[in-house]
Amino acid sequence: MSAGAFAYREGHLYCDDVRLAGLAASAGTPCYVYSARAIRGNYTAYDRAFGAAPHRVCYAVKANGNLAVLKLLADAGAGFDIVSGGELFRVLRAGGGAAKVVFSGVGKTAEEIDSALGAGIHSFNCESAGELESISTIAGRRGVRVRVALRVNPDVDAATHPYISTGLREHKFGVNVAEAEGVYESASKLPGLSLEGVSCHIGSQLLDTRPILDAMDRMLQLTARLRARGFPIRTLDVGGGLGTAYLRGEAAPDIAEFVRAVCDAAAGHGLEILIEPGRSIVAAAGVLLTRVLYRKRNGGKEFAIVDAAMNDLIRPALYRAHHEILAVEPNERTIQADVVGPICETGDFFARSREIPDAGPGDLLAIGMAGAYGFAQSSNYNARPRAAEAMVEGAAWRIVRRRESLEDLVRGEME
Ligand code: LLP
Repeated sequence: MSAGAFAYREGHLYCDDVRLAGLAASAGTPCYVYSARAIRGNYTAYDRAFGAAPHRVCYAVKANGNLAVLKLLADAGAGFDIVSGGELFRVLRAGGGAAKVVFSGVGKTAEEIDSALGAGIHSFNCESAGELESISTIAGRRGVRVRVALRVNPDVDAATHPYISTGLREHKFGVNVAEAEGVYESASKLPGLSLEGVSCHIGSQLLDTRPILDAMDRMLQLTARLRARGFPIRTLDVGGGLGTAYLRGEAAPDIAEFVRAVCDAAAGHGLEILIEPGRSIVAAAGVLLTRVLYRKRNGGKEFAIVDAAMNDLIRPALYRAHHEILAVEPNERTIQADVVGPICETGDFFARSREIPDAGPGDLLAIGMAGAYGFAQSSNYNARPRAAEAMVEGAAWRIVRRRESLEDLVRGEME
């Protein structure tokens, strides 16, 4: 992983060579800030660690689909893992090549399948027998043949938050590993499909990568069984999942070390390895800048009320996720407080009873590790225009999504 993009210099928080207080003064708050250098560095860490081994690093667009993020990854050579027609649209708009796109997801519509076939994507990761039939029919109508991999549920416990764990038998994802061969047999009778791969994704925010390697082991056994039945399996997609160190003292898995372990496991199997990292490429490359509006005491508790809210970053409310709160211009003092947004819900918090910088009205805070599943999961709840997004490149920065206006809030609505 690249060295931290966010660091203090002479009492000011910087993103690479940009002073964040200056950026906030000009861009306003709330504002997401991303480091191009960090995003590129994380992608390169994946790509380089594979060395000469056949591979495709397909960035999971869902983590952060901003066009500038996609463009810089496309320029760096990345492929993309998409889960909707909307994500395909984003990738193509950003200049990403369709030939490097894998389409995952449990509920692809006929329209989405058709547009992906029209664009000429690399492959589909299929999650059910019904979906294989749909893809075959639509490919037949278009007179094309498309590569498919079967997403298998390896029944491995990812030991992560239940909402983002996906690899157990009772989850909605993939096909049970015990049924995979049967599904493959039936699918082999369908026209328009090149059955070439197997894929899995067992969950997200894994700080211990052993479950991914265990899942891979099961997938390699399945590959051997499928090949013994005559299916020429040539790709294995190990999904995403590498975690980020949200808490001080936590350690994120090392990307290169993990990739080397994947390559070791795959060695001699004659497979091209696909990998779909999202969070580990963008999370640590982003912060959410917010300004303190008010301080107050209620029921013996101290509150810092900020101008960002759960509509901007829902991870604390949804998963009880921890994000570090940093002072942009620290004064050495700390307080014990809740950091909360203006939304009319008690769940609208970024930190609870936490020691945070002593920030008063007008002071800037940075919510750390916000580059993944931050803006991507934002909404207009409470009729709040969505935040701006900025991209830092060395000592320069630019707005890559302007703050939404009030008019944006009602676009498409009719009285
Ligand atoms: N591939 C598939 C099929 C996925 O479902 C996901 C994430 C990924 C790749 C990328 O996983 P990553 O490398 O980012 O862990 N909103 C949640 C995370 C949801 C993850 C969903 N799937 C959060 O904020 O923690």
